Amino acid sequence: MDPSAHRAVPVNYSDETVRGFALAAVLWGVVGMLVGCLIAAQLAFPDLTAGIPWLSYGRLRPLHTNAVIFAFGGCALMATSFHVVQRTCQVPLFLPRLAQFVFVGWQLVIVAAAITLPLGYTQGKEYAELEWPIDLLIAVVWVAYAIVFFGTIGRRRVRHIYVANWFFGAFIIAVAVLHIVNSAAMPVSFWKSYSAYAGVQDAMVQWWYGHNAVGFFLTAGFLGMMYYYIPKQAGRPVYSYRLSIVHFWALIFTYMWAGPHHLHYTALPDWAQSVGMVFSLVLLAPSWGGMINGVMTLSGAWHKLRDDPILKFLIVALSFYGMATFEGPMMSIKTVNALSHYTDWTIGHVHSGALGWVGLVSMGSLYYLIPRMYGRTEMYSVPAINLHFWIATLGIVLYIAAMWIAGVMQGLMWRAVNPDGTLVYTFVESVKATWPFYVVRLAGGLLYLAGMGVMAWNVVMTVRVGRVQPSPIPARLAHA
Ligand code: HEM
Ligand code: HEM
Repeated sequence: MDPSAHRAVPVNYSDETVRGFALAAVLWGVVGMLVGCLIAAQLAFPDLTAGIPWLSYGRLRPLHTNAVIFAFGGCALMATSFHVVQRTCQVPLFLPRLAQFVFVGWQLVIVAAAITLPLGYTQGKEYAELEWPIDLLIAVVWVAYAIVFFGTIGRRRVRHIYVANWFFGAFIIAVAVLHIVNSAAMPVSFWKSYSAYAGVQDAMVQWWYGHNAVGFFLTAGFLGMMYYYIPKQAGRPVYSYRLSIVHFWALIFTYMWAGPHHLHYTALPDWAQSVGMVFSLVLLAPSWGGMINGVMTLSGAWHKLRDDPILKFLIVALSFYGMATFEGPMMSIKTVNALSHYTDWTIGHVHSGALGWVGLVSMGSLYYLIPRMYGRTEMYSVPAINLHFWIATLGIVLYIAAMWIAGVMQGLMWRAVNPDGTLVYTFVESVKATWPFYVVRLAGGLLYLAGMGVMAWNVVMTVRVGRVQPSPIPARLAHA
């Protein structure tokens, strides 16, 4: 199935929000990665921020995760979903004013997070730190997002719903459910609340949320990007449309059950941990099915990889996706998790998915999208895209290799015991041994950030010399 099969009928697309979200994604990408480099530097040089509370590691770490996942990733997802749904349904956005509200509302959420997290306001739940007033705003904005997206699908002029929209749609519905259930809390003041759940139930709900935030926020939506932008950029139909449907249903069914792998060896009942492990192992199959479908879309067009840097971004993103989704099931095996949990191996796994998959697929898609949104056929500088690709890839390799080595080393040092049962190493010795790897990770992060800086420059130049794409038909006729 070729997404470009839907064409020919001129439509007056409403792209203001697409443009807004695309530029915001680039801006928040730079900010989020800058904070990532700062916390990476703090881990190597702990006195860096001189004890200033709002610059402390504990406050900046959630700022980093929120900025890269929800600001950078979220804006990229909203830009691309609004772009793709209009093209594949052959209609402009449903309620474009509501779409603008989604844009403004989401930026407000981001700014509120950027102010409250450094001030120390947090619910203490990972990836769900924001306090209840912001949570309410998120819920309202998200429902508006769903109305615009599904409203557009409802008004489509094409009978078929293209598979990218299935993935975007699942992402939107699942995130709404996860957010509302996990954020249930009792406010005690404007900036303080307590979770509606207690003890191990709280942990279970939190990691059902946390894991599906990975599955739906960091995976399903980006697979939506993959299913549209790879065929478009490669000029080839999706390798197997049938596989994409199997991929979709298998993935969304399986993800929902895998959350307990975050709670191995805890107070969670053992059988629940085993269910999490088994579903995580099963998850390898749909994940790789999707990866293979994306990569094989290039069959017959491999030569394009040689000189098309956007395709390089998209295809290398898929290889990191394959790597992270092989590693994840392995880490979910209890005996492997006994070694990896609490170590930097987890951080290496996270960033092979985050930098390699989420980062590169977003960047590739934005490089496709932005020039078209500003009336140009390509970015201002194609060599700069190539430069970005290579420094980002080098940065990822340094980052994840350093974390893998450090992680396995930490795990082995912590479990080493003398014949008399005492520990071979003190904890501090393991911290000391990790130091060089933290410096290498910082170098990798700086390279990745530099690549993002090159992208920001390229985007600014493209926007400045480009012009907003003229509507193919007058607006009054389009709505007639
Ligand atoms: C310049 C690029 C980046 C650098 C230098 C960086 C650095 C870091 C550091 C130092 C941590 C804390 C690690 C620890 O607690 O030991 C972290 C955590 C995290 N980062 Fe990044 N990061 C970068 C980009 C990204 C991106 C693009 C994403 C997502 C799209 C991301 C997602 C995360 C997540 C989810 C965590 C929490 C991991 C966990 O709790 O296990 N990072 N990052
Ligand atoms: C088949 C797919 C995957 C499986 C089964 C899986 C499994 C796992 C496991 C077992 C852990 C360690 C849990 C722990 O010890 O606490 C983990 C952590 C994590 N994974 Fe994955 N993973 C998968 C794919 C991905 C992808 C593609 C991404 C990113 C885009 C990702 C992001 C994360 C994050 C952010 C964490 C850290 C959570 C935290 O403790 O804060 N995973 N994953």
